[in-house]
Amino acid sequence: MMNQNLAYAMRTVPRYTSYPTTPHFHDAIDASTYAGWLGGLGPTDTLSLYLHVPFCREICHYCGCHTKATRKEEPLRAYAKTLGQEIELVAGYLTDAGPVRHIHWGGGTPSLLPEQSLLDLAGLMRVLLRFDPDLEHAIELDPRSVTASLAHTLVDIGVNRASLGVQDFDPKVQVAIGRVQPYDVVRAATDDLRNAGLTALNFDLMYGLPEQTTAALLDTVAKTVALRPSRIALFGYAHVPWMRKHQRLIDESRLPSASERLAMADAAREALIGAGYVTVGLDHFALPGDSMARALNDGSLKRNFQGYTTDQGDQLVGLGVSSIGRLSQGYIQNISDVGHWRRAIEAGRLPVAKGLALSTDDLLRGRIIEQLMTDYRCDLAATCQMFNLSPSVLETSINTLAELAGDGLVAIENGAPDRLVVSVTEPGRPYVRLAAAAFDAYLAGGNAASNARHSVAV
Ligand SMILES: C[S@@+](CC[C@H](N)C(=O)[O-])C[C@H]1O[C@@H](n2cnc3c(N)ncnc32)[C@H](O)[C@@H]1O
Ligand code: SF4
Repeated sequence: MMNQNLAYAMRTVPRYTSYPTTPHFHDAIDASTYAGWLGGLGPTDTLSLYLHVPFCREICHYCGCHTKATRKEEPLRAYAKTLGQEIELVAGYLTDAGPVRHIHWGGGTPSLLPEQSLLDLAGLMRVLLRFDPDLEHAIELDPRSVTASLAHTLVDIGVNRASLGVQDFDPKVQVAIGRVQPYDVVRAATDDLRNAGLTALNFDLMYGLPEQTTAALLDTVAKTVALRPSRIALFGYAHVPWMRKHQRLIDESRLPSASERLAMADAAREALIGAGYVTVGLDHFALPGDSMARALNDGSLKRNFQGYTTDQGDQLVGLGVSSIGRLSQGYIQNISDVGHWRRAIEAGRLPVAKGLALSTDDLLRGRIIEQLMTDYRCDLAATCQMFNLSPSVLETSINTLAELAGDGLVAIENGAPDRLVVSVTEPGRPYVRLAAAAFDAYLAGGNAASNARHSVAV
């Protein structure tokens, strides 16, 4: 069975931060489609805004994000100016929409934006859009660019949650991944944020990095736990050098093997549970009082392009290059080249590159996949009923699941005519992406193993 689990761990599958996944977006969905979708939003449609900032001081060797390096201030200032113009353009279509419940600044490194630009952009959003009083306002920060002044500015603009990229504290690993960031830097950033009143913190950690050992990872976990962030994300390094060319800087001979990756993930998970964190989905951990742990308990946990989220906005509007939004009608992705994005906005055009209109079958499968990824369980009969579809449309998927069920990784209850429930068993949890892939109608023959574009399952 152990060998079989290793074989599963090495299969390549999407991360399912959306369904259908982004390779299926196409350019028949354009600015005029998006204008129609946005214009149709009404007062009951609450909003969630994602602002993408595609710049970093330097590129970490492992990075899978859409970003590029800049040492200068001018591109950042110019980017913020165009982002403001995009906010004005999009807000023009949102005059009847409901309040903003969630804002997420992601990247790249949004904390590189000049503080005045952050103040201007947040002020603009507040003037043009209605903010919910319980607005969750989150930002991703590189600890190396956090200062006491930035921390105060973030609090001034209403940020109430921050996520710090940590990855691993071992100096040898840090050299191998091109990101030297001593523990004291992270501790100082944490202190600055807390002293300014920003206390809801997340640390991103990674396993499966070059030179990393289970002992080094456990040391990183111990140092992290000592700083007590209310959330921790533990991502498996996705090595996809065919998509992210700079990952070729990673010496593949120094990467841990599939069995070492499994051992690392298990050991870190145990250590985090031992330190009082609860597991949330595949790769998140939260202190019991944190809103993510509460969302898990009350069934409101979601999954979107940022991974697991407590975002309760109905309609996700993406802003900035390459950002992805999701409205009831479908997905929209912005142009990914800064120059083309700017020219579209300056010409008064929504900077859409592509998207996908959701069919009822997409909505059904997307809902099943999200439930499996968040709750490890889905009542298929009830979910089909929500979309007025017969469970028979899932026959191929159920057949594909038989292999995982045979190995005890999923359980299928298929008793009474109206009872069809799939759950991922405790040992099957690390392989939940494989269970999700069985419902992916876009994977060739439903066969996850045949799809080599993605990263390994664990
Ligand atoms: C936008 S960065 C976080 C903010 C900031 N740029 C930083 O790195 O401090 C998002 C996170 O994605 C994770 N990440 C980046 N590349 C990854 C990869 N190839 N595989 C898995 N996780 C990755 C890292 O944990 C990183 O902290
Ligand atoms: S991990 Fe963060 S800091 Fe490093 S290159 Fe990626 S986005 Fe930039």
